[in-house]
Amino acid sequence: MRLLVRDLEQLATPAPGGAVPRRRAELAAVDVLENAFVLCDDGLIELVGEMRDLPRLDGDVEEVDARGLCAVPGLVDCHTHPAWGGDRVEEFSLRAGGATYEELHAAGGGILSTVTATRALGADGLRERVARHRSWMLRHGTTTWEGKSGYGLDRDTELASLQAVRSAGGSPTWLGAHAVPPEAADADAYLDFALTEVLPQAARLADAADVFLERGAFDADRARRYLEACRVAGLVLRLHGDQFTESGAVPLAVELGARSVDHLEATGAEGIRALAASEVIGVLLPASALFLDRPKPPARALVDAGAAIALATDFNPGSSFTTSLPLVCSLACTQLHLSPAEALTAVTVNAAHVLGAADRVGRIAPGLAADLVLLDAPDWRYLAYHLAGDVVAAVVKDGRLAYRR
Ligand code: NIG
Ligand code: FE
Repeated sequence: MRLLVRDLEQLATPAPGGAVPRRRAELAAVDVLENAFVLCDDGLIELVGEMRDLPRLDGDVEEVDARGLCAVPGLVDCHTHPAWGGDRVEEFSLRAGGATYEELHAAGGGILSTVTATRALGADGLRERVARHRSWMLRHGTTTWEGKSGYGLDRDTELASLQAVRSAGGSPTWLGAHAVPPEAADADAYLDFALTEVLPQAARLADAADVFLERGAFDADRARRYLEACRVAGLVLRLHGDQFTESGAVPLAVELGARSVDHLEATGAEGIRALAASEVIGVLLPASALFLDRPKPPARALVDAGAAIALATDFNPGSSFTTSLPLVCSLACTQLHLSPAEALTAVTVNAAHVLGAADRVGRIAPGLAADLVLLDAPDWRYLAYHLAGDVVAAVVKDGRLAYRR
């Protein structure tokens, strides 16, 4: 089945060519066409161009009239936590009154309260919740996404979380080292359990492994033990690092050849230099910094030093209750001092690279997946400009209209 998206005001896509992930000036290399069309065939992009160059099309073609709209590539959310039950609205209120995220975590609330609610869901409940969260992502233009486990911390709930992410179309990451559950004697005893009882099955279901390396969670030695075992099992490695303290996440990520280190709100000059000299992607999560009223990650310094960065929502009930990558792009421009073009590349090509998918998604070009976001805007930069705006008019996924508002 062919789909023609015609009469677009603008079409914006990271430019072809160049190395992936994109760094420095190439992060801002975005091509813009005026009065454009995209022709999709059988789930892939067949042709892209300006309306005056649209060839005559024979046979069955479904048309989308995109007057007043702009197209950007389907957005890629490379860091989300969608597998959870309950909520954290009570904690949200306490934080509004001055309690801190780390205090609540240390008192057994925070992540561990979500663990209790998630265990109570069961596999069907988890599937339903992940599917609901996935539908929220789609409405914000996300067509490719990663989803972590990490709110089960027992065998069945961790595996059911990974399965729920896979069956909803996401790329599952085993966040087996998110917190130490109450039934474990200590962090070492928990890792003994997780690596012997959960990892063998998790490695079959997941694409990657992740650890929360932080004061009050897992230290660098324990994170190394967990990640080395996951690497042997064939998983791509990722870390939550430098969220509150610099506790060795960047050097460990570089040493182990991790795909990404995510958060980086506390990263200093040495960490910036080390990341810039490495292949590790820095995944920046400005909605999480905003939601917790924490310092911002040093995005500008990272980019200027030559580090590869991506942007993501960090969607979860405790530290970032949003599925909106357009909001993340707004924060990237207003708070992190990235340009709209840099933000676009960071939520498309570079985020796709984090998921090992940059050969399939992240740009609007012939041969790639026909995933598009149609923005209700006269200029594609409204993606970032329209703060918390209702900017997504429609989403095309694999050459089909998957959402229209
Ligand atoms: O990326 N910091 C660790 N993990 C999540 C938050 C989890 C939660 O608060 O439930 C994060 O921010
Ligand atoms: Fe996270």
